[in-house]
Amino acid sequence: MTTTELETAAGTRVFAISGSLRKASFNSALVRAAVELAPEDVTFDVYDELREIPSFDDDVRIAGLPASVERLGARIKAADALVIAMPEYNYSLPGVLKNAIDWASRIQPSPFAGKALGIMGASPGMYGTARSQYHLRQIAVFLDMHPINKPEVMVTRASDKFDAAGQLTDDATRKVVASFVVALRDWSLRIRSVKVGTG
Ligand SMILES: Cc1cc2nc3c(=O)[nH]c(=O)nc-3n(C[C@H](O)[C@H](O)[C@H](O)COP(=O)(O)O)c2cc1C
Repeated sequence: MTTTELETAAGTRVFAISGSLRKASFNSALVRAAVELAPEDVTFDVYDELREIPSFDDDVRIAGLPASVERLGARIKAADALVIAMPEYNYSLPGVLKNAIDWASRIQPSPFAGKALGIMGASPGMYGTARSQYHLRQIAVFLDMHPINKPEVMVTRASDKFDAAGQLTDDATRKVVASFVVALRDWSLRIRSVKVGTG
């Protein structure tokens, strides 16, 4: 077996973060849809502790990383790729998500560096989080992450696409999410094969 075949056989581990704390969040529902629609060789670890991350304070960081930040860093590190599904707040990232990214970015060595990133977003409005997604792409440059370009998952008019239980019911969007997970897996495998010098 070549290294690339070995990587493929081991599967792809994805760490997924929803940038919303709301129980009925469309973006958390979008993460659940990605898990549901993923191929067998992709496994998800879905983040459930965003609420535990304190406000960033560099004095606190210097005194010692909070346990919740250590745990976040370890879960990012254990993954091959990240999925971030986030709302757009005032044309940008939600503060709670940016705060968590800021904390984890201070961990040395950076758990983000060199990883594939898939970005998704859902909004009740017309733009499907496009503006916040481009802000996250800018942040990914400094984090040295590698976002996939396509497909872009920008779910517009979200209230028409999820049912009351938070199930993604819109067929066209389900297809895009399914192909997004496959594209992220393939991109992650390519990056990993280049890292070990086989690409
Ligand atoms: C502080 C705040 C700012 C918002 N700004 C935007 C915005 O810039 N663009 C947009 O499409 N929706 C905006 N919204 C609406 C959100 O898209 C909407 O609340 C969405 O359902 C949040 O995502 P969630 O369902 O995952 O919690 C904003 C909502 C809040 C609370």
